Amino acid sequence: AKLHTLAKAAGKLYFGTATDNPELTTTAYTAILNDGAMFGQLTATNSMKWDATEPEQGVFTFSAGDQIANIAKANGMLLRGHNCVWHNQLPSWVSSGTFTAAQLTSVIQNHCGTLVGHYKGQTYAWDVVNEPFNEDGTFGADVFFNVLGESFVQIALKAARAADPAAKLYINEFNIEFAGPKATAMLNLVKSLKAANVPLDGIGFQSHFIVGEFSGPALQTQLSTFAAQGVEVAITELDVRMTLPSTPALLAQQKTDYNSVITACMNVKACVGVTTWDWTDKFSWVPGTFAGQGAADPWDENFVKKPAFDGIATAFTA
Ligand code: G3I
Repeated sequence: AKLHTLAKAAGKLYFGTATDNPELTTTAYTAILNDGAMFGQLTATNSMKWDATEPEQGVFTFSAGDQIANIAKANGMLLRGHNCVWHNQLPSWVSSGTFTAAQLTSVIQNHCGTLVGHYKGQTYAWDVVNEPFNEDGTFGADVFFNVLGESFVQIALKAARAADPAAKLYINEFNIEFAGPKATAMLNLVKSLKAANVPLDGIGFQSHFIVGEFSGPALQTQLSTFAAQGVEVAITELDVRMTLPSTPALLAQQKTDYNSVITACMNVKACVGVTTWDWTDKFSWVPGTFAGQGAADPWDENFVKKPAFDGIATAFTA
C-alpha cells in the first residue's frame, strides 16, 4: 500500500512528510522519500525557518529550502512552507533586536514577503504564523508580541497574501487537538481575524502525540469546530512517541493511535491532509528533545514499516 495514493482515493489532497536536508545523503532514505505514491506532500523540517533563510537582516539564503522544494517539484508533491514567523529558531538580530513597532512591522513584511514570494507558484500552503500561544491561551511573550501585540499575526498574513495570492495561509499550533484554553484562544483568534477580513485559510494541528494519551474523537471535534469558522484544517506534524524501549504492546497501541488520527481527518471534510514529522524513527526530533522517548514514526530506524503504517493505511481505506 502507498499512503498518498490511499489518501487521494479517500478524497484527501495528500499524505505527506517533513524532511530535513542532512537526511538527503542517505540513499536508503531518499529511495522511499522520493516515492510520490507514498508521499504526496513535503514540509522542510528546518530549512525554510527564519534562521536558515534570513540569518542577517536583508540577506536571504534559499539553497537548503530550494533543495527540498525541488524534490517536491521533481516528484509531483505539494509543498507546505514552514514557517514565516515563530519565536523559535530566530536569528539573534531578530530575537535580541530593539525595534520600534514600525521597524518590526517592516522586518516581518520583508521576511514573509521575500520568503513566500521566493516560493510563489510552488507552495500549496504556508505556516505563516507558528505556535503563537502559551498553554494558558495567552500570547507568547516573544519579540513579535512584545513590540506589536497580536497585530503581528495580521501583519504576517497580509504580507504572505500579497507575496503569493494562491498559497493557503495557515496558523500552525500544538496542543489545540483537544479542548482547553489554548484551543479556545486559537478559535477566538480565527473569529477575530475572519471578522476583520484578514487573509486566513487554514489551521494546522501539529499533532505531536504520546502513545495511549490521545483521543481521536476529541481531535475530530476540534477539527470540526475550526472548520465551522470557514477555514480548512490539516494534520501538519504528526508523530506518536513512546517511552523506550518499544514493545509489541506499545507498537500495537501506536497503530491504534495513528489510525485514530487519520480517522478523525477522514471524518471531517475540511481536513485536507496529513503530514508526519518525518516518517522514520532514524530522523525523528523526539529522542533529542525528550530523553528516553522515541519510536514515534510509522517506519523504524531501519526504514522498515511498523504496525503504525497499517494503522494509517487501514484508516484511509475504511
Ligand atoms: O543547525 C545547527 C547545526 O549547525 C549544529 O551543528 C547542530 C548541533 O546540534 O544544531 C543545528 O541546529 C539544530 C536544528 O534543529 C537543525 O538540525 C538545532 O540545534 C535543533 O534545536 C533544531 O531542532 C528542530 C526544532 O524544531 C527546533 O525547535 C527540529 O529539528 C525540528 O524537528 C523541530 O520542529 C518543530 C517545528 O518546527 C514546529 N513544531 C514543533 C516541532 C518539533 O519541535
